Amino acid sequence: MEFKVQRGPLTKQASEVLILGHYEGEGLLPEAASIDKAIGGKIQEVLASEEFTGKFLQTLLLRTDRKIASPRLLLLGLGKRSEVTLDRIRQAAGRAATQIREMKFGQFATQIHGKGLPRIAIQDLAQAMVEGVVLGLYQFQVYKTDRQTLPKEVRECTLVEPDEKKIVEIQMGVLRGRTIAEAVNYVRDLCNTPSNVVTPSRLAEEAKKIASDYHLHLNVLERSDMERLGMGALLGVARGTVEPPKFIVLEYEGAKKRGRPVALIGKSVTFDSGGISLKPAENMEQMKYDMSGGATVLGTMRVAAQLKLPLNIVGILPATDNMPSGTAMHPGDVVTTLSGKTVEVINTDAEGRLCLADALAYAQRYEPMAMIDLATLTGACVVALGHHAMALFGNDPKLNAHVQKASEETGERVWPLPLWEEYYDQIKSEIADLKNTGGRPGGSITAALFLKQFVGETPWVHLDIAGTSWNGERPRPYVPKGSTGTGLRLLVQYLTNLAKQQKSKSR
Ligand code: BES
Ligand code: MN
Ligand code: ZN
Repeated sequence: MEFKVQRGPLTKQASEVLILGHYEGEGLLPEAASIDKAIGGKIQEVLASEEFTGKFLQTLLLRTDRKIASPRLLLLGLGKRSEVTLDRIRQAAGRAATQIREMKFGQFATQIHGKGLPRIAIQDLAQAMVEGVVLGLYQFQVYKTDRQTLPKEVRECTLVEPDEKKIVEIQMGVLRGRTIAEAVNYVRDLCNTPSNVVTPSRLAEEAKKIASDYHLHLNVLERSDMERLGMGALLGVARGTVEPPKFIVLEYEGAKKRGRPVALIGKSVTFDSGGISLKPAENMEQMKYDMSGGATVLGTMRVAAQLKLPLNIVGILPATDNMPSGTAMHPGDVVTTLSGKTVEVINTDAEGRLCLADALAYAQRYEPMAMIDLATLTGACVVALGHHAMALFGNDPKLNAHVQKASEETGERVWPLPLWEEYYDQIKSEIADLKNTGGRPGGSITAALFLKQFVGETPWVHLDIAGTSWNGERPRPYVPKGSTGTGLRLLVQYLTNLAKQQKSKSR
């Protein structure tokens, strides 16, 4: 889809439909007032009759009878002015764009919503709007063979701004918004694509493509390499499948000096059947998205390179299927991890922490300044927080705070859970150093505490994205059903903030 930034008044803009934002409980914004005058007071009429109030996400289509350059107007409720946030602007833009597609328009123009609010920069508003549009219009239809019945695509969006001085900022926001949202949609594509296509080998190919498109360094470890290194935990999970596991390492060098990198680690279980501790059939098909963390790391590496972030970043994906078979790991098996610690595998369905144990230990070779892992790790996280927040764990209050700040800025919610030592008893094994399950109480916490045994002294954050990676219910304004691509916007914001902070330190 194409985005244009146009200087001029909205009244003069010729489009299939114009979107006009409106704050609940207020008079018309200047642009709306001049349009309303031109079309004979139709907007005031629907406000007076309360057919349209400007309630958040409300929409109403009006005809202009060609009294302005565009034949139709879509009024868009922005809610109360005092309640406007960037995320609300993102949602409103997403809602308007999907309505426009439903009404079968191919193109639209709009002003920048939320303009002139003292707290929010126009560049950020433009970025949020473009994100809302691109994310909201996402559809996964590669497997629909009847092209005729597919909804028509919206081809073009024009952002109209009368003030010349704002144009460059808007253009910058548009570029950033597009880059980020298209990467989120790339993550969604990978997670929506079934496991017979997105195998560990396919993830390695995706990494290869990113590496060659954006000049990143790529290293893919094969099964034999993992054996040589002693990645017994990941190899244990990979024993049950005929799909070759891949340990994917992507390095982006954006900092001039060879400074310490940030390590991003993503759980990349391309299908989680549970293994011998087989999952029930109901909803098992959804376990194709158990590589969401890894896909998010791939997408984030791509954005970091596209935006030329002045940082060194290493992305790590320990990729494998988790399948039952005659060669699969048995419950009770003991594996030796890369770190040397031994683990008794009580439940083969607690495979994510095994894969991550080796990946977190491997990441330390880079002496990273910070390490963040994303994983669809526990069903318990879905129980605790539902679908609207990732669980945040960490061993470094500063890093936690930085991730929380990025969360607030992007609207990708995180919520902290504790890593108190009292929980450690639950993962002590009778015969090995650790066991891979801690029972039902505090299931997300004991999983995170398990991971903590493999991070050493490195500042580390673990994000459990089990609840936020998949939208199984109804479409939200910029989150269609299926994979959500959660975490990418958060990571990119964290990295952007970090780059800024380092720049100001070095001055
Ligand atoms: N991938 C699952 C966690 C999951 C569940 C993600 C639901 C998304 C939605 C993970 O590998 C798993 O199976 N965890 C087990 C751990 C248990 C056996 C200790 C779980 O949460 O049930
Ligand atoms: Mn599992
Ligand atoms: Zn899993």
